Amino acid sequence: MKSRILEKLRAEAEVVSGEALSAELGISRVSVWKHIRKLVECGYDIESTPRGYRLKSSPDALFSWEFPKIKDRVHYYEVADSTMDIAREMARNGCPDFTVVIAGAQKKGRGRLKRTWFSTRGGLYFTIVLRPQIPPALSYRLNFCASLALASVFREKYDVGAMVKWPNDILAGDRKLVGMLSEMEAESDLVSYVNIGIGINVNNDPTPDEPKAVSLREILGREVLRKDVLADFLEEFGNRLKTGTDRVISEWKEYTVTLNRMVKVATMNEVTEGFAKDVDEDGALILELPDGTLKKVIYGDCFISGM
Ligand code: BTN
Repeated sequence: MKSRILEKLRAEAEVVSGEALSAELGISRVSVWKHIRKLVECGYDIESTPRGYRLKSSPDALFSWEFPKIKDRVHYYEVADSTMDIAREMARNGCPDFTVVIAGAQKKGRGRLKRTWFSTRGGLYFTIVLRPQIPPALSYRLNFCASLALASVFREKYDVGAMVKWPNDILAGDRKLVGMLSEMEAESDLVSYVNIGIGINVNNDPTPDEPKAVSLREILGREVLRKDVLADFLEEFGNRLKTGTDRVISEWKEYTVTLNRMVKVATMNEVTEGFAKDVDEDGALILELPDGTLKKVIYGDCFISGM
């Protein structure tokens, strides 16, 4: 109901009467008033006059009703330990495909390779639960698809020349704008869920912890609404998933900074240095080692020489 009330108020620059809202939404005027009061408590600036209600401004809030098309699948927490933990619990308990768990801040944000992902206010932190009907070996495609979808939002909506770095980071220039990590569980030969966790530096300052990171705010010189970034990403990602992910690797290669350069790939226990020759159809990075042999690397952190 809150999304419908906001929709009506946003459509009108002027006052909307409680009577009109109650008639159009099919609820009592008292019920309209209760929803309005709750919205005000949540930070929406709504003027109440004897003639009705007027929305003066909305906070950059990530409440489920800000995502009307999928509002029943959006779960927002002001602070969480990690959206990965909540999403895993929900996935194991049978939540539907495309459930989105969002946190305003995280106390134990997780990065790849057991690192911490510093998750202060102003950033965008969420995990999407996907339930694709695919074998586990193809699940990596969803991560590539997510990073392409997000990079295209940055390019098209914010004019930021975002590029992807193997496996799934997004960079602006040589600085990290987005980190991504995923978890999967499978039963027999079918994926049961793939959870993709995404941390985007939007209006936070990541540099005290990660000097080579950057935020959208720093790039654009202004604050950006996190709810717009998330809504645009969810739309784009959903559309791409519907179209299919068969061509995802070839498209990813068009937007990557990783290939045809010397790189170092670090895993938990080794570092491999080589020339990044290709990413194969399994999403693995193919390195040419100094002795000319090829090595296939399936996970790790990639450092590009000179970046
Ligand atoms: C990386 O190391 O680059 C991956 C970072 C992934 C961070 C996101 S923030 C939302 C989700 N919840 C977490 O605890 N981590 C992921």
